[in-house]
Amino acid sequence: MKKEKLIRKYDKHVKMYKNICNNRHLERWRRLLLANANGNILEVGVGIGANFPHYNKENVHVTAVDFSPEMIKSAKQTAADYQIDAEFLQKDAEELDFEANSFDCIVSTLTMCGYPHPTRILNQFNRWCRKDGTILLMEHGISSNSALSFAQRIADPLFKKAAGCHCDRNMMKIVEESDLKIDYKNSYWTGIISLIWASPSK
Ligand SMILES: C[S@@+](CC[C@H](N)C(=O)[O-])C[C@H]1O[C@@H](n2cnc3c(N)ncnc32)[C@H](O)[C@@H]1O
Repeated sequence: MKKEKLIRKYDKHVKMYKNICNNRHLERWRRLLLANANGNILEVGVGIGANFPHYNKENVHVTAVDFSPEMIKSAKQTAADYQIDAEFLQKDAEELDFEANSFDCIVSTLTMCGYPHPTRILNQFNRWCRKDGTILLMEHGISSNSALSFAQRIADPLFKKAAGCHCDRNMMKIVEESDLKIDYKNSYWTGIISLIWASPSK
């Protein structure tokens, strides 16, 4: 799918994401993941700003990136609602460039499913994050249940067309094969959801 078409698709998903955000499981996992997210934070694929309510507004500055202008618009409103000190970049995550060691914390939730080259972005996180910083990931991917994973593989082309992302990526494996060092991980819903606390390795 061409990038412009994909951006338009995400633009149209704003309302749907606002509904999905009320999901109590997602809320619980976001709260768990972001409990200690502090300092100068980079959040890539910020969407409507669903993580903003979970940041400590006294102690964060967020650089929020998304390539969808409608998502950015909605995230700006969420930042205002929750008094989060944030700046916004409407950019493709794969074209970002920051100095090494720029951030205390890098956050990605439900985004690695969409990038053409997720490992490259994770390796950039490794570079952009301070050596004593944290990379926090909540991603969805393939189930460890064989019947479910079979269905996910079959459904993937349709899923990509409808949602704009893949449902059959092995997220844990992708992160394990990146430069990041996994400090702690957990998975839910037969491995469909992965929560990962990582740090830069090199
Ligand atoms: C499934 S949503 C997740 C949003 C948010 N992180 C959350 O947890 O609710 C994926 C987001 O990533 C953005 N996105 C997808 N591919 C991107 C890319 N290549 N560069 C920047 N943003 C991208 C989409 O516009 C969308 O807002």
